[in-house]
Amino acid sequence: MVDFHILTLFPDMVMQGLHTSILGRAVDRGDIAIEAVNIRDFTTDKHGKVDDYTYGGGAGMLMQAQPVFDACQSVIDRIGQDRRRRVIYVTPQGKPFHQAMAKELSMEEELIFLCGHYEGIDERVLEEIVTDEVSLGDYVLTGGELAAMVMVDAIARLVPGVLHNEESAETESFGDGLLEYPQYSRPEIWHGKRVPEILLSGDHAKVDAWRLEQALLRTKERRPDLYEKYMEAHDLYNQRG
Ligand code: ADE
Repeated sequence: MVDFHILTLFPDMVMQGLHTSILGRAVDRGDIAIEAVNIRDFTTDKHGKVDDYTYGGGAGMLMQAQPVFDACQSVIDRIGQDRRRRVIYVTPQGKPFHQAMAKELSMEEELIFLCGHYEGIDERVLEEIVTDEVSLGDYVLTGGELAAMVMVDAIARLVPGVLHNEESAETESFGDGLLEYPQYSRPEIWHGKRVPEILLSGDHAKVDAWRLEQALLRTKERRPDLYEKYMEAHDLYNQRG
């Protein structure tokens, strides 16, 4: 069970995106909980302002420390001090997100995601509340929401109970460091293309060996970086060359 709290200026966007399909059902069953907390609700500014100019000049506005800090504190006050928690700021300046990180975060109890907008957030509040800075990739989005939604989805599906077919999270791409092998369904021949004969053989050991071979081939071709890591980790270079 993981509780996700997303601190954002666009709570509707986040909740609509995450309360559908598999994650929506997991929330309804109580396997995970997801809430969006509107940072604007916590500003002490009487006009509801949450941003201001940056010291030192330059284009764009910055999210101010006060509303961000109070929004985060309100979540911490509610969940209590004894729960294991991380506060994750989604930013292109963070560590690149990947499957092993998703797995690690899926074992926490409380995950608080902080979504920035405009030119970012006042550094002082980040220093006080953030435990992890994480990036979705080397490109810039208009805000942190889409990045946080992607991360919540990738983490939530690894929480026990969320996917009913437990095995599928193990065999899919990245589960063991390799891309997934190709898969086929009926009919046996489509557009003149046959399903690989071995998959019809009923010989499970042979099928498994073929799938591993295909996963290795695919990874070597498409993601040589992952292939190298896998071969090193399994000490296979000497055996395969
Ligand atoms: N906010 C804007 N761009 C982002 C990115 N690439 N990753 C995480 N958060 C972001």
